[in-house]
Amino acid sequence: MVGLPARGKTYISYKVSRYLAWLGVNCRVFNVGEYRRKLVGAQLDHSFFDPHNPVAIEQRLKCAVLALNDMFAWFEDVHNGVAIYDATNSTRSRRQMISDECRKHNVEVMFCESWCDDANLVDMNILEVKRTSPDYKGVKDPQKVLDDFRHRIDHYSEVYEPVGGDGKRPLAKNKYPYPPEDPTLEQYDERLSSYVRKINVGSQVVINRVTSYLESRIVYFLMNIHIATRSVLFSRHGESMYNLNQRLGGDPDLSPNGRKYADALPSLISKLLGNQPLTVWTSTLRRTHQTAAGLPYKKMQWKALDELDAGVCEGLTYEDVEREYPEEYEMRDQNKFEFRYRGGESYRDVVLRLEPVIMELERQQNIMVISHQAVLRCIYAYFLDIGPDELPYLKIPLHTVMKLTWTAYGCDIQTYKIDIDAVDTHRAKPKGLKRGGTVKAGSTSSAAATARSSASAAPESVAGSPATKTDASRFPTHDQLLSSSA
Ligand code: ATP
Ligand code: F6P
Repeated sequence: MVGLPARGKTYISYKVSRYLAWLGVNCRVFNVGEYRRKLVGAQLDHSFFDPHNPVAIEQRLKCAVLALNDMFAWFEDVHNGVAIYDATNSTRSRRQMISDECRKHNVEVMFCESWCDDANLVDMNILEVKRTSPDYKGVKDPQKVLDDFRHRIDHYSEVYEPVGGDGKRPLAKNKYPYPPEDPTLEQYDERLSSYVRKINVGSQVVINRVTSYLESRIVYFLMNIHIATRSVLFSRHGESMYNLNQRLGGDPDLSPNGRKYADALPSLISKLLGNQPLTVWTSTLRRTHQTAAGLPYKKMQWKALDELDAGVCEGLTYEDVEREYPEEYEMRDQNKFEFRYRGGESYRDVVLRLEPVIMELERQQNIMVISHQAVLRCIYAYFLDIGPDELPYLKIPLHTVMKLTWTAYGCDIQTYKIDIDAVDTHRAKPKGLKRGGTVKAGSTSSAAATARSSASAAPESVAGSPATKTDASRFPTHDQLLSSSA
C-alpha cells in the first residue's frame, strides 16, 4: 500500500484480503502501524512522524523492516499467497527498498496507492476512525485529535512522492534514503513497476503494467469498491413446501407460512429503508420471486443466486440421502465445503459462481438479496470473513432479514426476525468431527433434527426490530486490529 495517513489504506487492505481469502487465496495483512505501536508505543504525538526527527526515523525504519521480514517468513510458510504490506510507503526510496527485498525473495510486487485531496473526507476519516484508535486513547476532545493528526499528515506530505514518478526526476528532499546515498536510486524508475493508483476514492484509477491474473483481479476489485453509505439486506425466501417436507432443492412454491412472510416483508423493508431507493435481487427460482412479489422496488433475477445444486439428491430429504447415498452422506460431513454432489455442486463451486454477484454488490448502492440457505451462507462468509470450515454450517434462519452494517475495517450483521413460524432447515456439524477426519459412529445428526421453531423459541423475534448482532470472526474490529500490546 502507498498513501498519506487516513487515505483508507488499512480499510482497502482488509477488504482485498477478505475478498482473496473468500476466493481461496492465502492472504495476510502486515500492518506496520501495529509494529510501531508494539515496539515504540501508541499515543505518540505528531512529532514522532516529523521527517526531521532522526531518532524516530530510525525507529520507524526498524518497524518497517521487521514487518517486511515477518512477511517474507510468512511467504516461506505458505509458499503461495498474497501479502499486503500496509504502511504509508510514501517515498520512492522506501518503495525501492521494498522492491529490492521482494526481488531477492522472489516475490512479485504491485503497489496500490490511495491518493485523496478531499480535505473534508480526510477529516471525516480522522474523526470516525483515527479518533477511536489506541493512538488517541484517552483524548476526549475530537478537535485535539484532528489537529494532531493533521500535523501528522503534514509531516508525511513534506516527503511524499506519488507512485509512478519518472526515475530521472530529482528526488524529493528525503531524510531517510535507502540505501543511503545509493546512486542507483536515481535510476529507480517506477514507470517500470506494476501499480494501481486509486485517486479520490476511485473518481480516477491509473493502472500501470498490471499483467498477472491475481493483480488484475485485485485491480478490478479496487475499481468496484466504494465508501458511499448504503444498505445491503439479505433474506432467504419464505418457507417453501419442500422446506416443510424437509426436501432439498427443487423449485417449490411457498408454504402458507412462507406466503405470510412474503406479505409481511414490505412493511419491514420500508421501516428499515424509509424512502430510499432499493433494487431487489432474486434467484431464478419461484420461491424467491414469490417472496419478493409484494416489494415495491425494481427487481432483477440472477441465475448465480440459485440454490446449491444437490444433483442426484435434489428433492430428497437428508434421511433419504443417508439411506440411498450413505458414502456421499458421510463424505459430505467430512469436508462439507469441498464436497460436490454427484451431478451437482459443492460450496466451493457456489463461491466461485457468486464472485460476479459480490463484485456487483460492492459496486452498487442499496440492494436486497432474496436467495437460499447455501448461497446466503457464501455471501455472509464473504462479508464477515468466515472460513470454509465454518461457512457451510452458518445459521441463516428462514423468515429473517439480515442487514449489513459497516465498521471501521469490516462489517457486522443485524438480524430482524419476522414473527411467523417456519421450519428450521439447519443441520448441525456432527459432533467430534474434525476436518478431513472420520465421523464417529452414531454421531451424525439426522434430518429428524429438523424442527419447527416457534416464536417463543426465538427470544429475539420482535418483528421489525434489531435482534442479534454477529461479530466478524476472523476479521478484526478496529480495536482488535489496533489494540496491540502497546
Ligand atoms: P494510516 O496511514 O493512519 O494507517 P490509512 O490510510 O490506513 O491510515 P484507514 O485507517 O484505512 O486509513 O482509514 C479508514 C477510513 O478511510 C474509513 O473511514 C474509510 O471509509 C476511508 N476510506 C476507504 N477508502 C478510501 C479511499 N480510497 N480514499 C479515502 N478514504 C477512504
Ligand atoms: O433445505 C433448504 C436448502 O436450501 C436446500 O435446498 C439445500 O440443498 C440446502 O438447504 C443447503 O444446505 P446444506 O448445505 O446445509 O445441506
